[in-house]
Amino acid sequence: MNLKMLSEKNIILGVSGGIAAYKSVELLRLLQKAGAAVKVAMTANAAQFVGPLTFAAISGHKVFKDMFSGETDEPMWHISWAEAADAMVIAPATANIIAKLANGIADDALTTLMLAATCPKLICPAMNIHMYENIAVQRNIDILQSDGFIVVEPGDGELACGAYGPGRMAEPQTIAGQVAACFYLKDFAGKKVLVTAGPTREPIDPVRFISNPSSGKMGYALARAAAARGADVVLVSGPSSLDIPAGAQIIRVVTAAEMASAVFENAVHADIVIKVAAVSDYRPVAPAEHKIKKSQDKMSIELEKTVDILAELGRRKRPGQVLVGFAAETRDLEINAVNKLCAKNLDLIAANVVGDAGAGFAADTNRITLYDAVGRREELPLMDKDAAAHHLLDRVRELSGR
Ligand SMILES: Cc1cc2nc3c(=O)[nH]c(=O)nc-3n(C[C@H](O)[C@H](O)[C@H](O)COP(=O)(O)O)c2cc1C
Repeated sequence: MNLKMLSEKNIILGVSGGIAAYKSVELLRLLQKAGAAVKVAMTANAAQFVGPLTFAAISGHKVFKDMFSGETDEPMWHISWAEAADAMVIAPATANIIAKLANGIADDALTTLMLAATCPKLICPAMNIHMYENIAVQRNIDILQSDGFIVVEPGDGELACGAYGPGRMAEPQTIAGQVAACFYLKDFAGKKVLVTAGPTREPIDPVRFISNPSSGKMGYALARAAAARGADVVLVSGPSSLDIPAGAQIIRVVTAAEMASAVFENAVHADIVIKVAAVSDYRPVAPAEHKIKKSQDKMSIELEKTVDILAELGRRKRPGQVLVGFAAETRDLEINAVNKLCAKNLDLIAANVVGDAGAGFAADTNRITLYDAVGRREELPLMDKDAAAHHLLDRVRELSGR
């Protein structure tokens, strides 16, 4: 996660009364480590979960919790803090505070501060699945989104109440990344970007499939980076457990055929298409209807080719549309990458060697070399996937400006 944009920024961390409040301490430290000055405002109920003393000690500032405590020399600290803030983030955001913010209610320190602020404002909903899916909560989140709040979507998984599903607060790393994203130049504003990510799964029978170890990290990093730079992003993702990149619309698919139809439908409107997904080249001709039982010593599965999505996109490419591919190779990187660039009518290809230390499928870092259609080659050093995504977007911006 690239957090360098946070350096010397004034951030207000708002904490409301949810079980995930303990994770806000880690978020505070992450923001500080990235060079931000952080002040904390919390609701009275949040103090039931984590004491203000913890936030005061770590932030180095008094915590704003009580409107009328007279604890500082600043009689109107809801105004002075709001004016000095470069961004405000509420993590966790309870159903209650989301409802209050959606209706402009200012009945405590944190909600008053939020109303007074004109900087970018982020909320990180965290709650039980039924609360999160409640129609009133969803309506309030929609209102906040249309009012310009950035909603850092909760993840799927086991919730504190024991239930499974959406509602778990996004990880502190993800949230810090979204706060940093507020400060990127919006050089992709008005651009429609389609990104594909993750693996596909081709069923052999109802419980088995052909797939690969792609985690989706590189594609998600690209979707996140493009959204942070103002693009209108659609992410077509194969199975992945990563947090949805804020600001991106996600379309979840499983098989290569599903990915192909989602991609072709959305590519028609896209200015830029970046294909990072590791799509199966072959699929079983006839997946079994029931689980295959162990019987013979040997068995074979007949496979057939899946649609070559990238080649088809190359054929359908509109004038002015930029098409970017990825090549993961085990040998002859340059030859394979350049051949793919030409054969599939790409404008740019990012190539990396599978098995290179710190690079490739599930790693957080990558070492890519970029080749473009006019013969330029740029070898990037090992860097985290967010940084690599921004480098790649810099090149895409040049190409789409032509
Ligand atoms: C143990 C416990 C955990 C809670 N966790 C959450 C939560 O994760 N999300 C949420 O919206 N409310 C949660 N609540 C309910 C809120 O604390 C309650 O709605 C409260 O009024 C929120 O106040 P605030 O928004 O002013 O902080 C929890 C309550 C308890 C007792």
